Amino acid sequence: MKQASVIPPSVNTSRRKWLKTLGLGAGAVALSACVDSSVKEFSAAGMKTEHFPSATPNVNDGLVRLSSNENAFGPSKEAVKAMQGELFNLARYADATVDVLVKKIAAQEGVSEDQIVVTNGSSPILFGYADWITKNGNKLVTSMATYEGIPRGAEFMGADVTYVPLAADMTFDLDAIEAAVTEDTTAVYVCNPNNPTGSMVDAAKLTAFAKRVSKKAQVFIDEAYIEMSDAYPANVQSKLVAEGHNVVICRTFSKIHAMAGQRLGYAIMPAEQAKPMGRMLRMGGVNYLALVAGIASMDDHANLNTMRARIKAEREKLTNAAETLGREYAKNPQGNFIYMDTGMPHDEFAAKMKAQGIKVVGRTWPGYDTWSRISVGTPKETDACVSALKAVLA
Ligand SMILES: Cc1ncc(COP(=O)(O)O)c(C=O)c1O
Repeated sequence: MKQASVIPPSVNTSRRKWLKTLGLGAGAVALSACVDSSVKEFSAAGMKTEHFPSATPNVNDGLVRLSSNENAFGPSKEAVKAMQGELFNLARYADATVDVLVKKIAAQEGVSEDQIVVTNGSSPILFGYADWITKNGNKLVTSMATYEGIPRGAEFMGADVTYVPLAADMTFDLDAIEAAVTEDTTAVYVCNPNNPTGSMVDAAKLTAFAKRVSKKAQVFIDEAYIEMSDAYPANVQSKLVAEGHNVVICRTFSKIHAMAGQRLGYAIMPAEQAKPMGRMLRMGGVNYLALVAGIASMDDHANLNTMRARIKAEREKLTNAAETLGREYAKNPQGNFIYMDTGMPHDEFAAKMKAQGIKVVGRTWPGYDTWSRISVGTPKETDACVSALKAVLA
C-alpha cells in the first residue's frame, strides 16, 4: 500500500543534518527515530500539533484559533510517520498513489473506483462543482446558513441560487428544499453535519429525500464532518452513489484526520461525471505527502475513534457553557463546533473574544447577525474559551 521509503540508511546522517538546518534540532531527530514519542518530544521538535495549538506555520499571534473548524488535536502519528518516511520521495507526480487511495476509499465506502475523484482538499471539488452547475442549467437550491463553498462559488459564476430558511430546530428543512426544487433545478446542496449549525438530518429521511429529489436535480451531500458524528458510520450516504442515484458525496481529510494544512479531499459521484471532473480538478496531480498521510490515517482506526470521543467531550463543554450562560444554540451539534446566539453583533463578539485571547469566526450567516460559530480546541483551549465566554457573556 504505502510506497517504499527511498531513504537508504546511509543518508540518515545527512538527513539529521538537514533537519538541523531546518532548525528542528535534536528533538526532530528523536521524533524521526521514534514517532510514538511523548508530547515533550513533539514540542521539542517544533511540530505544530495540539501542543502548539494556537500556531500555524506562519502565524503565531498568541491567539487560540477556534475560528476555522480545524482539528487542534493534530494528525495521526501513523500519518506523520508515513510522511516522514517519504520526505525524499517527492520528485514524481503522484498518480499511482492516488490509485492506492482510490482503492482504499472504494473498499471502505462500497463504491467503484471510477466513481471517486481525489483532490487537494475538498474545496477544489466544491468550486469545480459550482462551475459544473453553471454549465448544466445554472440553478442551485440549498439552505440558509450553510457552508458557502458551492453556493458562493455558483453565485460568483452567475448561477441562480435559492436559499431556503432553516427549519425551526435549525436543521436543514428538507421538506421545504424539496418543495423549492423544480424540473429545471440543476443541483441541491446539503451539508450534513451542517456548517455552521453542526446539525444533522435524520439519516433515513435524507436517504429517502435524496432518492426522490435526485430524479429531478443532482443531490450533493457534503460530509466534511460526518466522521465526527455520534452515528458514524451508519449515517453516511455513499451507498446512494453505489446504487446508481444521481448523488454526489464529498469528504475531506481536513477535519477528523486533522490534515487541513496538508490538503486532501475526495468526491464520490456517478462515474460518467467523475471522469471529466477528475481530469479537470486533478490536473497536475494531488500532493504526495497528503496521499501518504491520508492512507495511513484511514488505517489508524484507533486514532479516529479516540478523536471522535475527544471532539465530543470538548463540544459538550461548549454546549454546557451555552446552557449555563442561558444562550440559545443550535442543538445536538455533531461536528467540531457549535453555533450560538451571543446576543450582540457577531463582529463585536469576535472582538471581545479576541481581547480574551480567543479567535472565533469573525463573520456570520445572513439572518443570524448575533450568532457566532465556535470551534472546539484541545482541552486547554476549550477551557480557555469557556472562561472567555463567561467573561464576555455572563
Ligand atoms: C462543510 C465543509 N465542506 C468543505 C470544506 C472545505 O474543506 P477543505 O477544502 O479543507 O477540504 C469545509 C471547510 O471548513 C467545510 O466546512
